[in-house]
Amino acid sequence: KVVPVILAGGTGTRLWPLSRQSLPKQFISLVSHNTLYQDTLLRVAQGALFLPPVVVTGADFRFFARRQAAEIGITPTILLEPARRDSGPALLAAAAYVRDLHGPDTLMLALAADHVVTDTPAFLACVEQAAAAAAAGHVVTFGITPSAPSTAYGYIRAGAPLDGGVAARVERFIEKPDLEAAARYVADGYLWNSGNFLFPAGLMLAEGARLEPELTACAEASVAKARTDLGFLTLDAAAFGAARAISIDFAILEHTDTAAVVAGAFGWSDIGAWDAVHAVSAQDENGNVMQGAVALHDSRNSYVHSDGKLVAGIGLDGLSVIATDDAVLVMPSDRAQDVKGLVGALTASR
Ligand code: GDD
Ligand code: MG
Repeated sequence: KVVPVILAGGTGTRLWPLSRQSLPKQFISLVSHNTLYQDTLLRVAQGALFLPPVVVTGADFRFFARRQAAEIGITPTILLEPARRDSGPALLAAAAYVRDLHGPDTLMLALAADHVVTDTPAFLACVEQAAAAAAAGHVVTFGITPSAPSTAYGYIRAGAPLDGGVAARVERFIEKPDLEAAARYVADGYLWNSGNFLFPAGLMLAEGARLEPELTACAEASVAKARTDLGFLTLDAAAFGAARAISIDFAILEHTDTAAVVAGAFGWSDIGAWDAVHAVSAQDENGNVMQGAVALHDSRNSYVHSDGKLVAGIGLDGLSVIATDDAVLVMPSDRAQDVKGLVGALTASR
């Protein structure tokens, strides 16, 4: 049995102005009727493999997390972080929760809440393939064949296959390399890390205690001293707040020698930026995607999204336009990665 744990506390900055501090991308519907968070929950709600899900998110998002799950008939256990500390402390706290409840050998599937997976059966087959390797003492990652040298991902060099399975040992894990290194890794056949992990809860905590003892102690204490409030389990503020902010990739995956990888093709996209939303959405014969009240004339390869007002365009080519109530973003689609810097500058100037 596997406990799915959904990490739903990120901010999705590069999808501004739709994704906001107050309503990040996992809780909005970008590519389907459901939100990305709902689709993630539904992916692991079927089959005999999974126990009921656990969600870890920021205290600010607690009512979104509960209401959106209820809308699809799911009642997860929801752990709340009293402060934002990135994915490392959140994942370790969830591992402590799972271990304390079900035992150290219980497999935990840590899932990003904000990815698109178009082939759920293929994804579930990968999880089943990974289960044997995880049970044998590995933190299993799911590798994706890269399509370009992106600096937004972790890179995995697969080594020797593990005994009698499809999983291979991870020889190197490099989180978010610079562009030059990324290009080299793509040429050398490295895989992208999809950002989902399967492991025995106790193993992750043991690796945490070895590699990041203070961080892991904070995460464990935050669970030991957690309190229930309005049906949520709120992690202890003093203990959790004392943890350093760091992603699980930098904290553990880059350093552990227990990592393994199962390569998968399940229609994955992390839709981190607007160009990726464009790519996974249904395009018309001119390569345009129009969401909401949009009219385009003589335009090609453009992504236009409106939350309300009619947005009309003439002669657009390779542009992205995102119009919300209080902000409009216009840019060449290939500048989509620069939104993060823009948002940083806007926040700083306020
Ligand atoms: N609960 C909680 N708390 N969740 C968080 C927090 C937090 O403070 N910060 C991030 N998350 C969640 C996000 O909501 C997302 O579901 C997941 O953890 C990954 O965080 P991101 O911030 O989106 O990470 P990333 O995209 O930069 O990098 C990760 O994903 C890539 C693939 O999309 C890494 O795992 C990379 O190695 C990987 O290639
Ligand atoms: Mg991400």
